Amino acid sequence: MNLPHKILLAQIPTPLNEMNFDGKNFLIKRDDLTGCELSGNKVRKLEYILADAKRKKADIIFTCGGDQSNHARATTIAAKTIGINTKLFLWGKENSNINGNLFLNKMYGAEIKYLNKEQYDKVNEIMFDERLSLLKKKKNAYVLPEGGSTTLGIWGYINFIDELKKQINLKSIDSIVAASGSGGTAAGMLVGAALNKLDIKVVAVNVLYNKEELTKKILQLAEGCILDYKLNCKINPENLVILDGYSKEGYKNITQSKIKLIKKFAAETGLLLDPAYTGKAFTAYYEKFLNTGKGKKNIFVHTGGLFGVFSRTKEYLV
Ligand SMILES: Cc1ncc(COP(=O)(O)O)c(C=O)c1O
Repeated sequence: MNLPHKILLAQIPTPLNEMNFDGKNFLIKRDDLTGCELSGNKVRKLEYILADAKRKKADIIFTCGGDQSNHARATTIAAKTIGINTKLFLWGKENSNINGNLFLNKMYGAEIKYLNKEQYDKVNEIMFDERLSLLKKKKNAYVLPEGGSTTLGIWGYINFIDELKKQINLKSIDSIVAASGSGGTAAGMLVGAALNKLDIKVVAVNVLYNKEELTKKILQLAEGCILDYKLNCKINPENLVILDGYSKEGYKNITQSKIKLIKKFAAETGLLLDPAYTGKAFTAYYEKFLNTGKGKKNIFVHTGGLFGVFSRTKEYLV
């Protein structure tokens, strides 16, 4: 098996903690602690992706996401540390409210192109077209799809399972629960669990794509990775559970009832959850697992995203 190389970016292993919320104990894997500026789940993927970009002698990295994309911010900062600039193709529009991840992207010098939703639906084509124009000028752009979710990037979450296995007997665990956007985090965990012959459920709380689309994305990434790297394992699609209905307000919004839970959680545990991903995923985890007394059999993964809070200060202060 030809395993991919990585550069070191993430502060790992991240802690697996037992905490108490609302009078009940539960397990939380602190992937918000993979770093500070370079924080959250994206850093694990970027370790592999940037090693590849370096090997391919990229002059610039193109990537995409919402205007408060954590992935775009982590890519910009990480790429900067190895001397590569980024161009970001962001769903949103230029406005005077430059805060959170967008602020950091600007501060670290990313070039930004804003796209409306219709244009963003074709973002991969747009990035590849620009890559072609740059090639004519002998400049090599490395195109990284949304969320860093490629069959290479998901190695970050294949190895996450090995890391977790050293922290707890995963045979005693029913599921691992995390927010799911582009699907790479869940796909990596599925492959990692299959390689370790673990019959554990990966519960993905969809915040961006609908259940059908996300299921397809995750399974394609997982199967694609098995094929690309000739891995000796098989995915059981039943081990993927999409916990649907927790982002009905839309990816860029969050309901006041979720903010209320986020604030109660912050007050009791000291931990902060973000509006786009972990606030929604934790609401799902709370209702389905924690509140029903299953918090110690099902691990919640805090995937980070905290800079997003600063784009929502008004809602958080209500
Ligand atoms: C904080 C946070 N959590 C979860 C996710 C979802 O990860 P994935 O895109 O791998 O599904 C993201 C991705 O953007 C994120 O920024």
